[in-house]
Amino acid sequence: MTRALAINGSPRMEKGKTALLLNAFAGGLKEGGAEVQTYHASKLKVQACACGSLRCWNELDGKCCIQDGMQEIYPKLRMANILILATPMYIPLPGDLQNIMNRLVALMTPELVTRDGRTRARMRDEVNITKIALIAVSGWWEMENMDTLLRIARELAEDASVEFSGALLRPHASYMLSDGEITSAGRGVLAAARQAGIELATLGTMNEATLNQVSQPLVPRYP
Ligand SMILES: Cc1cc2nc3c(=O)[nH]c(=O)nc-3n(C[C@H](O)[C@H](O)[C@H](O)COP(=O)(O)O)c2cc1C
Repeated sequence: MTRALAINGSPRMEKGKTALLLNAFAGGLKEGGAEVQTYHASKLKVQACACGSLRCWNELDGKCCIQDGMQEIYPKLRMANILILATPMYIPLPGDLQNIMNRLVALMTPELVTRDGRTRARMRDEVNITKIALIAVSGWWEMENMDTLLRIARELAEDASVEFSGALLRPHASYMLSDGEITSAGRGVLAAARQAGIELATLGTMNEATLNQVSQPLVPRYP
């Protein structure tokens, strides 16, 4: 069975729009037969990587010496096949999620390779992650606003030598709701997010048309 591990970086946790999209996507993954575990970065209280000398690579055989919430998810991360990073755009990332992403380096090996002129690591043999997917929501209207997040997720996948499966990008996310209720357009977005989850679980890939539906404009561009 495919195992997915999702990290929700929104400090609003279940109350945020990130969770709306992630929950729909996770529902689709489960419908497609995958197992999904979700963690909230703000609950894990993961500290910043403190040893700039890469002790996890050079001395500790892939173990991180900081004893905090990251130790709870390292074993789950090693078992997962798909890593889902879900985040609001925060110019660019909420700090708790950034800390977790930095600490993923312990899952990689120091045997660096050169690919397309770039120096890359890869996941350690005992780590099963083969795909990384991104879910991102933002406040402003335009999609380009999330280019930095997309770049970060792609770079992480390249650095770990795993596939980047694609991104569910939801600009002007607040327009999914009106007076706290999901609008019919918002329901369409969440249905597309669920469909993307089904596709990733069953086909191993997400259709571009489905991802475009997740990102569809909900209001005309405002000034
Ligand atoms: C510190 C901070 C920085 C933000 N920066 C941006 C930004 O650069 N672009 C943008 O579109 N929205 C930005 N936003 C808005 C959030 O991305 C938006 O409100 C998002 O829906 C929050 O997700 P959540 O509901 O899961 O908390 C920012 C919000 C905060 C608090």
